[in-house]
Amino acid sequence: MSSDLHVAASSTSEAVADPNAALANSAGQAPLRAVVVGAGGMGRWWARVIASSPVTELVGVADLVEGMPAESIAQSGVEDPSAVAIGTDGVDLALEVGADILINPTVPVAHHPVTVKALHAGIPVLGEKPVTETLPEALSLMAHAELTGVPFMVSQSRRFFPQVRELRRFVAEHGPTVLTSAFFSLFHEHTGFRAEQQHPLLRDMGIHAFDTARYITGTDPVAVTAHGANPAWSVYAGDATVTCTFEMTGGSLFVYNGTWNPRGLPTYWNSEWRIGAEHGSATWDGTGVPVLGTEDEDRTRDLQRAIEQALDTPEPDQIDASIIEFVTSLREGRTPMCEVHENILSFAMVEAAVASIDRGSRVVIDELLEEARGQAIAAETDADAREILQGWGSVREAIERR
Ligand SMILES: NC(=O)c1ccc[n+]([C@@H]2O[C@H](COP(=O)([O-])OP(=O)(O)OC[C@H]3O[C@@H](n4cnc5c(N)ncnc54)[C@H](O)[C@@H]3O)[C@@H](O)[C@H]2O)c1
Repeated sequence: MSSDLHVAASSTSEAVADPNAALANSAGQAPLRAVVVGAGGMGRWWARVIASSPVTELVGVADLVEGMPAESIAQSGVEDPSAVAIGTDGVDLALEVGADILINPTVPVAHHPVTVKALHAGIPVLGEKPVTETLPEALSLMAHAELTGVPFMVSQSRRFFPQVRELRRFVAEHGPTVLTSAFFSLFHEHTGFRAEQQHPLLRDMGIHAFDTARYITGTDPVAVTAHGANPAWSVYAGDATVTCTFEMTGGSLFVYNGTWNPRGLPTYWNSEWRIGAEHGSATWDGTGVPVLGTEDEDRTRDLQRAIEQALDTPEPDQIDASIIEFVTSLREGRTPMCEVHENILSFAMVEAAVASIDRGSRVVIDELLEEARGQAIAAETDADAREILQGWGSVREAIERR
């Protein structure tokens, strides 16, 4: 495979996000007024980030549960908690206070209704992963984003580690990849929605590694074969142990092993990585500086020195960087990284792996996307959005057109 083919095969953003450069360029500009919808664990983290980021101001917090918004605001670090508005309906609240943007870290089942309402109200949305609870809902959101023309980005926090950006850079110069693996193993007994969810490990954690793999390798998924396990000691109703082999565009493979079940020898939340490409390989323990290797000792030494230097300067990461990307894209009038069209294939990897386990067979991503489109058309209540869903030549074509 030529490296030209390798680049053409990818639907992930070409831009290499540099939050420090974006911050320097935005100095002096007024922060965007943000409402955070959802005041659970992630909503509270978002409230702290929105309150402290130089590009945003926290003007409202909404949650269905009484008392939660006030608690979230109290821990957010804002100077005057009484100046931050409170509500139950996040979009109504955003309209009331004249917010510029809405952050949506509600539970996955609420992602579709909250985001559809915000987009139709003309409010740009930065939503938490996974984009929605189901693949048909995700395609519906893609159609609503096209219909309204209002920006919708999905925050994939783990893509925003500087090591990930540097690994993408390494692969761009030494690819194409042939075999990439991510191994996640961390004993963790979640409570809340994850404990009862079907396939919680894939839906909650797999999505991070899948999105990261697409970004690093510059390839997209074609098909997957997956297996799950649920040992007797697991606290989860669904499989919290999985292994998946993805066939990617250009003929390369991406293997994911993930589990919350074993005790001892934990990996970091980012997984442990090995990336094998035509002109070099890289390993990353998920927290430190990646280790790079080529067949040339001098070149390897230079590359290692360069990546150490690149990672030496502190910079915002995870959702601190994600919000900078979103705000910067709005100010520049460009499509943000992780815009819903780009994100769909990361979520499709999750749902295809789920389908592979449930059906006990290999699942072709495009076939699953078209099945989901049929279901999305049948469920869509908005006639204009339905027409958009029906009008796509194929889901893949609609994704790549963006
Ligand atoms: N990026 C990451 O690293 C990361 C980490 C954890 C969670 N998440 C994601 O963040 C989201 C939230 O996860 P969590 O752990 O905070 O869940 P959570 O259950 O702790 O909190 C969700 C909150 O949303 C509220 N809510 C539900 N529907 C609502 C609606 N329509 N309007 C307003 N509020 C509503 C609930 O009352 C609850 O307080 C999930 O999509 C999850 O996958 C991402």
